[in-house]
Amino acid sequence: MSNFYSRILLLAIACTATACGGKSDPVQAATDDDDPRHERHELMEGVRDAAKPVGAMLKGEAEFDADALMASLKVFHDASGVFGDLFPPGTETGMDTEAAPAIWEDREGFDQALADWRAAVEKAMDAKPAKLEDAKPVVGPIFNTCKNCHDTYRIEEEG
Ligand code: HEC
Repeated sequence: MSNFYSRILLLAIACTATACGGKSDPVQAATDDDDPRHERHELMEGVRDAAKPVGAMLKGEAEFDADALMASLKVFHDASGVFGDLFPPGTETGMDTEAAPAIWEDREGFDQALADWRAAVEKAMDAKPAKLEDAKPVVGPIFNTCKNCHDTYRIEEEG
């Protein structure tokens, strides 16, 4: 996080000098790759990729694999630790973001949804499920927390 804010600071300094004269966006990053809108998109794509094998196991479409499950849970856990830092003011729109205005309007609610997700993931990690029947009751609630957050804080693009 501090990294991110130091970047804003640097950009702000650079802006007063020359380049950003006409720009209204105070956190316009040096490149798109550095932009929090890009970073949070990439992060969620990683979450989606980690969720796929877990979903397949729960539906019985794939063999239960305790190690693969733990690896995915770790991806969720890591993501839940940094995701909240990727919504600074000035990144509400643009770059095809799917972040809903509610994130900035109700930051407490968003933080709570994030904390609920993280708590559900930690519970599943602590349970160390060794078979499908053990995994279902702790992994199912994680997906509820994904949906719960998306319902309010993500605008899903049509199609
Ligand atoms: C605390 C809120 C929150 C939680 C929990 C959450 N997401 Fe998201 N998700 C978002 C937001 C906000 C976006 C839009 C990000 C953006 O475009 O800036 C998003 C975007 C996505 C996307 C679209 C990625 C893309 O192509 O842009 C996928 C897929 C996704 N989430 C899957 C998941 C899955 C699977 C889980 C649970 C394992 C999950 N999310 C948990 C808030 C959340």
